[in-house]
Amino acid sequence: MDFLHLPSFASRRVLVFGFWVVTLFSEFAVGITRHYTFNIEYLNVTRLCHTRPILSVNGKFPGPPLVAREGDRVLVKVVNHVSNNVTIHWHGIRQITSGWADGPAYVTQCPIQSNQSYTYNFTITGQRGTLLWHAHISWLRATIYGPIIILPKHKVPYPFEKPHKEIPIIFGEWFNVDPEAVISQALQTGGGPNVSDAYTINGLPGPFYNCSSNKDTLKLKVKAGKTYLLRIINAALNEELFFSIANHTLVVVEADASYTKPFETHTILIAPGQTTNVLLKTKPKSPNATFLMAVRPYFTGSGTFDNSTAGAILQYTHPSHKPTPQNLPLLQPTLPPINATDFVTKFTAKFKSLGNDKFPSKVPKMVDKKFFFTVGLGTSPCPKNTTCQGPTNNTKFAASVNNISFALPHSLSLIQAYYSKRSNGVFKTDFPSVPINPFNYTGTPPNNTLVTNDTKLVVLNFNTSVQVVLQGTSILGAESHPLHLHGYDFFVVGQGFGNYDENKDPEKFNLVDPVQRNTAGVPAAGWIAIRFQADNPGVWFMHCHLDIHTSWGLIMAWLVLDGPEPNQKLQPPPSDLPKC
Ligand code: C2O
Repeated sequence: MDFLHLPSFASRRVLVFGFWVVTLFSEFAVGITRHYTFNIEYLNVTRLCHTRPILSVNGKFPGPPLVAREGDRVLVKVVNHVSNNVTIHWHGIRQITSGWADGPAYVTQCPIQSNQSYTYNFTITGQRGTLLWHAHISWLRATIYGPIIILPKHKVPYPFEKPHKEIPIIFGEWFNVDPEAVISQALQTGGGPNVSDAYTINGLPGPFYNCSSNKDTLKLKVKAGKTYLLRIINAALNEELFFSIANHTLVVVEADASYTKPFETHTILIAPGQTTNVLLKTKPKSPNATFLMAVRPYFTGSGTFDNSTAGAILQYTHPSHKPTPQNLPLLQPTLPPINATDFVTKFTAKFKSLGNDKFPSKVPKMVDKKFFFTVGLGTSPCPKNTTCQGPTNNTKFAASVNNISFALPHSLSLIQAYYSKRSNGVFKTDFPSVPINPFNYTGTPPNNTLVTNDTKLVVLNFNTSVQVVLQGTSILGAESHPLHLHGYDFFVVGQGFGNYDENKDPEKFNLVDPVQRNTAGVPAAGWIAIRFQADNPGVWFMHCHLDIHTSWGLIMAWLVLDGPEPNQKLQPPPSDLPKC
């Protein structure tokens, strides 16, 4: 797979300028415009002996990579040929002043209806590395997902050894039944959703499943004595995943499209929505063995989960003058136990931003606004005259931020309501900055676990520097929550277990080289502190990237107001913005 050839139809934007302008601007390496068409269409796929029509982009599963350079403008025309409403989210792309192109349904757009299209239009600024795109409505991202590959600007090298090859490795979850049926049943009964039937690596489950043949196993062919860049993406719906390759070491160099200080590890942990680039150095000589690449979940909750293992095989090519050895043994990696929170804590602590002269760490040192949000599960009442299968007698599962389970609007997106000054009846702006009823968050849970349902935002003035402490709760079992913020990267300045202590914990914050990400795990029965500079006007979703928790309402949203300068204002809506 070579994703690095650039689309030939991409046009150099500089050509439209006169010659003197080109000379004037050439030093700034003006990006080009890249055009993509994403047709949402059915594709029959067979896995584990089950064939079903899945929703795909351009008939590919996983979907096609979006390749661009830092500084490029990207136009993706999404054409909906299926009966479901669809949106696509460019997960991790900052979307500076272009919130209309972000993609979450009813937040920054109404969905694209059947036989309609919408062109997402955005410029990639200040980012390079790997991200992902995925559908952002209901559970359609179960099959509608693919890599985003952002190369550095032309002639700008990586801050690490130039790899021989770059290979996207994308994890997913396969359901033998339609995932839309799974989530609609779960929401109706109020119970936990049925779990997936397999994990996949580049769409393939591998050798450890019933009825998963040799051709359903990814074989990664490598040469001896080379360095490969693996662009690893977790596009699974509901599980954080461990990944390891037998007898090989990985060097982490990037997370969520920001460079990190390189570090070595045998195993990585990657949460849904996270991406990370690792260098894989192959053995100096082709060994007489093949090597398993294994993926399995990290799970801390108390419900059921898919406890299976996906596998792919790393194979060395042998010099052509020698016969290829047959029946080589398959060596297996040792993965941490399913609930290996110790490993996860140590692993997470290794991530530091590169923080050098070229890539300084821009963590806000001072904070204008502080927030304290609880994140976790809860319950909502069962509708009258029905029976529910939630956690306690006749309740439904819910999830919340500061005990508010987020309700999406349906007739208008939040950003449209804001922009057209029609927010009345669509959203309120009094999302609480601290819990209304404080309790011992990680101790014995309170008796009343009911959440409220509402659509509340936090309004921020342009360029506010923000600190948010995300505190996990033990309600219905402490569980780790990968929190994702749209429109921004944040810095993870601190993390810990138990209840956050405002008097002691800030002393230990890393304000020098904290990791910069768009998705970070709130540890089970613990907390993280994040900071970001609100320099991107628009409406920005923040939610747990476990899709079931998003469905249950573990969401809030920020409304960042315009700044004074023209380039600090939310752009006007595009003319083809879908209608509800
Ligand atoms: Cu990758 Cu709002 O999601």
